[in-house]
Parts: sequence; structure tokens; C-alpha cells
Amino acid sequence: MTEGQNNPRPAPRLILPLPGNEAFGRDLAQDGHWELGITETRRFPDGESYVRIRSDVAGKAVDLACTLARPDEGFLRLIFAADTVRTLGAREVTLVAPYLAYMRQDRRFRPGEAVTSRSFARLISSSFDRLVTIDPHLHRYSALSELYTIPVDTLHAAPMLADWIAAEVDNPLLVGPDEESEQWVSAIAARIGSPHAVLRKTRRGDRNVDIELPDLSQWRGRQPVLVDDIASSGHTLIEAARKLPLQGFVPPVVVVVHGIFAEDSFQRLAPFCSRIVSTDSVPHESNAIGLAPLIASAIGANAISSADLIRNRRPPEPLDEVERAGFDSFPASDPPSWTGGVR
Ligand code: R5P
Repeated sequence: MTEGQNNPRPAPRLILPLPGNEAFGRDLAQDGHWELGITETRRFPDGESYVRIRSDVAGKAVDLACTLARPDEGFLRLIFAADTVRTLGAREVTLVAPYLAYMRQDRRFRPGEAVTSRSFARLISSSFDRLVTIDPHLHRYSALSELYTIPVDTLHAAPMLADWIAAEVDNPLLVGPDEESEQWVSAIAARIGSPHAVLRKTRRGDRNVDIELPDLSQWRGRQPVLVDDIASSGHTLIEAARKLPLQGFVPPVVVVVHGIFAEDSFQRLAPFCSRIVSTDSVPHESNAIGLAPLIASAIGANAISSADLIRNRRPPEPLDEVERAGFDSFPASDPPSWTGGVR
């Protein structure tokens, strides 16, 4: 169904960044020529989250911009913001999460384990009308629609990674550290007309991986470029970067989509590399490839059908009741520890 059938005019868009996503939210709003909204958050003394939406959301298509790296800390705040936006009368509520969390526990590997990819998908699907994300870690699922019950736009950063490599690296050899990386390494190699190779990884634990190199001698003299979707503990890339020089290569350039770089992994990886870059799906000092143009064009192009909006929809709360409850329940006078967007 097209936007025009039930809604004569597309709803005005409002980008609402959550804490830590200010720069990305601003870029998104600029790229799409949309309004940038304001959210206030802080912690109550007991650790609970305070959330206030300071922009008018009624009748608007609201995009909550929130990467989901290190999700446990801010997840409730995100759900509260989505729920508040909805009850204040937003026409649709989209989660723009350039990095989507909880995609790797996609099976019960040992009895009794939580399959968090499924539980997390249920939580997100019950709070949002749509999800927009970049290169989710699809290993044992072929598409997010196997997990998420809301419409999902799954976007791919490979063309942007390819363009960055073509512009910045002479004579590259694209290297994927494991079989899973074959999909994007081959796509990038094809786009820029360079050879590619895939290494073999054995994972023994969260921080224990072994990497085996095939014979790469035919490409000696090229600049290796290690490409992966996620740098988390960093062990995959550290092992791969450490081993490439053993076959006579110069230290690799590392290009990742999602640079989580947990703990001190970035500092431990850096000595083995000539350069490390990432997209801005997770704010990090290695960010060199901005995703806002890619996401803005997808958000602007794909309208949600009215049928999709029926799920989860409930009428806005009467404002006088909400405001009375606010005064009675707690003094909301403490300064916010974070205010996103423009003032
Ligand atoms: C593997 O399945 C992924 O594509 C990445 O290689 C992996 O998530 C990286 O994890 P870490 O940095 O913890 O080795």
C-alpha cells in the first residue's frame, strides 16, 4: 500500500536522538532536511531513568536514532522514549539503530541458554512500528523478518566501504577473517576490481580465537585490507592482523562496519595495523565512513503502510491527565544529565 492511499500527505518527520547519538541524529536530520528534536534524560537517585520528550511529536513520523551497541545500559530509556512518543500522538515510531544488538546468541548452544536474538526482537517489535538498521549479524537467520514482526529496512554498508577503500588504499588485497565475512568481502572486491581471500577461524571462547591463513603468496606485494562486520572483543582482527606479516605482508588496513571495540581491544589491535577505520554506526575514534546519507535516503523513500501501523497503535493519552500525574508523582525539576538535539 502506498502512503497516498490512506494518508493524503506524508507525515512531517522528526529525528529524535537518544544519548550518545547526537552527532548521528544531527547528520540524519541534515541529510533528510528534517526537524531535529529534543529529548531530556537523567537518572533518578535510585538509578531509574527519567525521560522527557521536549518536541511536539503529534501527527509526525518520529525516528528515534539510537545505536544499540552496549544496549543494556540504555535500553529501558529507549523503550520509555518510544512509548512516550507514541502516547503523545506520533503517527509512526521508527527505531533507527545503525548497529543492531543481540544478533549473535541466535541458538541455544547449551541447555537452558536464553536465545537473546529472539527475545530482543520481541521487545523491539512491541514498541516500534519499523526498524531501520545496517548489516545486522545474520548468521543462522537469513533475514531479520525471521525474528522481527515489524517492517524492517536492512541496509548494507559494503558499497560505502568499497568506495572508501578505492579512494584510500593502493593495490589492495581484500581479506575476510572468517567464512562469514566472505559475503561482504567478495561484494567489496567485485565493486573495486580487487582480489580477495578468506581466512579460517576457530572460536574457542569469547576472547579465544585462532586464525589460519591459506597460502596467500600470489598476492604478496599488495596492501592487505581486513574487512569484518563487527569488531567486538577484537580477537578476530588481532589474530588475523598478527598473522598476515608471517606471509610477508605489510601490516593491514582494517575496515569494519560496526566498531564496538570492547574493553581495550582498539589499543591492542592498533600496533598490528597501518590504519583502522569504521562506519559511524557506533561512535568511536576510528569512525571515517558516515552512514547518514544511506539511512536518510531509505527512511525518506520507504513509507510505512497504514496497515502496518495498526499493530501496537493506541490513542494518545489525554494530556491533562498525563500532566496531573507528572506533578503528583515526582518533582521533575532536577536538571537533565543529557539533552539531545537543538535547544
Ligand atoms: C563473527 O562471527 C563476526 O563476523 C565477527 O568476526 C566477530 O563478531 C568479531 O568478534 P570479536 O571481535 O569478538 O572477535
